Amino acid sequence: MDNHAAIEQAKEHFGKIIEDQLLRIENMKNEGDFVDYQNKDEIVIGVVGGDGIGPFITKEAEKVLAFLLKDDIDAGKIKLKEIDGLTIENRIKCGKAIPDDVMEELKACDVILKGPTTTPRKGDGMPNIESANVAMRKALDLFANVRPVSVPEKGIDWTFYRENTEGGYAVGSQGINVNDDLAIDFTVATQGGSERIIRAAFEYAKNSGKNKVTVVTKANVIKTTDGKFLDTAKKIAEEYPEVEMDDWYIDIMTAKLVDEKRRTQFKVLVLPNLYGDILTDEAAEFQGGVGTAGSANIGKRYAMFEAIHGSAPRMVDEGRAQYADPCSIIRAAGMLLDHIGYSEEAKRLQMALDICGQYEKKLVLTGRDTGATGAEYAEYLMETLSREDLIEVYNSYQK
Ligand code: IPM
Ligand code: MG
Repeated sequence: MDNHAAIEQAKEHFGKIIEDQLLRIENMKNEGDFVDYQNKDEIVIGVVGGDGIGPFITKEAEKVLAFLLKDDIDAGKIKLKEIDGLTIENRIKCGKAIPDDVMEELKACDVILKGPTTTPRKGDGMPNIESANVAMRKALDLFANVRPVSVPEKGIDWTFYRENTEGGYAVGSQGINVNDDLAIDFTVATQGGSERIIRAAFEYAKNSGKNKVTVVTKANVIKTTDGKFLDTAKKIAEEYPEVEMDDWYIDIMTAKLVDEKRRTQFKVLVLPNLYGDILTDEAAEFQGGVGTAGSANIGKRYAMFEAIHGSAPRMVDEGRAQYADPCSIIRAAGMLLDHIGYSEEAKRLQMALDICGQYEKKLVLTGRDTGATGAEYAEYLMETLSREDLIEVYNSYQK
């Protein structure tokens, strides 16, 4: 293809991207406010196993949810609904990140608990299907990726508000190979998309009493999109006089997270998608690795909760899937409980996870037959949850 034809083709492609994004902005403007779960007669929790160890660990998290919500499940207020078919085999067969029938089932739920799904990557022989995570975040407009990281003994208590539908991810699978020599990707920031995530971070900072928001960008170089994000943050900060705001560039921020004196000053951090992806992995490492963290993907209509780690296909190949650690997805289930208004149950679950995993350690998970199975561990957790002295036990370890 000559240059002229290549340019024309690229322009057409770019035009389509702009059209799609303008349409997305229209839809965003028409979306209602956050769902009020208190006033719902029935809350449907979709449970999606995913790939690899996903179905194994998700089953354990589902048992824990069923245990904690038993009364309201019996009363018909809560429904747990298993959704099959979000597997890499089925997605390849349908040629879609999320098959249509699965998408329909997801949309019939209020909130979703999701196991890890395999993402094909360039060169691994699988077709170029978009990540199911990314597709679900976009399709259900789950714009706030909330990732808490806490290491009390080091004074770390961070809550990340990662923008979850825009930035480099908005059209991540729609870059242009103009010709063999030139490849271009796009990054997207919208006014509404920036406002809603930044406002969510400020609301949380205010309501939690943390009263501090750190905005992370690279607005000195990525001037247009990150510039919009930062300018929007400065404007929104004026609406929250009680919340202190500071702003950092992503490069120095990654350094400051390892600076023991400085890092304890960060509380709530808000940042565009890709920086949030990277920084939250770094942050989770201080807490014991990505396997220890839960992740909430929150939109106005839907919300999805997941483990941060991957699907570990090797554990399945080696016949060790039943030994996979379900704690990350169980933590995600705790965030789900909190989100739909069961904050007391969520708190008890967090205490039980800490007692079993950090203090009492009657069972340990090693990922192989030298340790407990996920099912045995879930039993241990539920026994701990049944203890009448749960809170006293937890407090006795907090000194
Ligand atoms: C995450 C993951 C995903 C992301 C991958 C699996 C596409 O790294 O949830 O942080 O990049 O968002
Ligand atoms: Mg990530």
